[in-house]
Amino acid sequence: TRIEKSGYKHFMAKEIAEQPVVLADAQAHYIKDGNITLPVDLDFSAFDRVTMVACGTAYLACLTAKYWFEQIARIPVEVDIASEFRYREPPVPARTLAIFVSQSGETADTLAALHYAKSQGATILSVVNVTESSMARDSDMSLPILAGVEVSVASTKAFTCQLSLLLLLALKASSDRGAQSTEQVQSYLAHLQKTPALVSQSLNVGDAVKEAAKLVAEAQDILFLGRGAMFPLALEGALKLKELSYIHAEGYASGELKHGPIALIDKHVPVVVMAPRDALFEKTISNMQEVMARGGKVLLISDAAGIAEAGQGVWSTITMPEIEPVFAPILYAIPAQLLAYHTAIAKGTDVDQPRNLAKSVTVE
Ligand code: G6P
Repeated sequence: TRIEKSGYKHFMAKEIAEQPVVLADAQAHYIKDGNITLPVDLDFSAFDRVTMVACGTAYLACLTAKYWFEQIARIPVEVDIASEFRYREPPVPARTLAIFVSQSGETADTLAALHYAKSQGATILSVVNVTESSMARDSDMSLPILAGVEVSVASTKAFTCQLSLLLLLALKASSDRGAQSTEQVQSYLAHLQKTPALVSQSLNVGDAVKEAAKLVAEAQDILFLGRGAMFPLALEGALKLKELSYIHAEGYASGELKHGPIALIDKHVPVVVMAPRDALFEKTISNMQEVMARGGKVLLISDAAGIAEAGQGVWSTITMPEIEPVFAPILYAIPAQLLAYHTAIAKGTDVDQPRNLAKSVTVE
């Protein structure tokens, strides 16, 4: 079947807009009557550790999932870039579950890393969008993220669907390992099922983001800051922006700011602060104030209460719906995607087909 833009200017815009629907459909596929139903025989009590390997945006989904697996299921997780993992040849202890995340299921480095982990005796789970892919075929188990065909080179709906499925796996791990009570897991699941509606609401920030993109498009450098599970999302915001607008962008863990990147701050450097009201909110805000004290132009992304509390003196704000902090990375991916999209439009770059990039990198 031919995939059309269906009235959108770009595939990326269409794929961003599709997220509430694909997320809800994917969740309905994996959650029945409030219980997790996986089509594979996966029992996390058989494993002592998890190794996650991927490239690009899929790697950043893994980095986010590490926070979930460790905090919710109390299982240690290592995350690696596929091109490093495959040549470092790390030891893979017994009782390791190795998870390979890939939209295409064909990325050469990730596939080679998968074959290496298999040769070391790990149990292989792939999390893919393309179900008839090499990774799906060569794994012990494979789970589809069910994002539907993604055309735009920059990954959007595949990323949020990866996050949603990985969070579900962290919940499965926590029940298999008895790390959380049944009631607790069910309450997480109920919240997870509310994320598609919140993602839908968050798409309303489009106009505010478009305004912010005008300034961002003028910048030479831009920083994205976040803490905890929002740190990988800061990396994703920076990755998306550089892929699409060719502006130099860096993501940093807010607490690490003082160890280097603060030297970059002046009035020409916009700083995007991803600050849902989670346990680290106050700390994130104090990092943000350090930026402002040095003249940095802060774009604060938080909910209404967060902005009321901390928005004084910032350059601009984006108001997000309120959300249980655990699920914030899924929701805050939306303004990150939209900022990259609108900045690319402001700069006139090729949104769906950025220079030098390929949708799927099947050669090394
Ligand atoms: C390419 C794409 C990225 C993608 C990465 C991994 O670099 O441009 O958007 O995140 O490959 O692709 P995969 O198909 O393995 O998720």
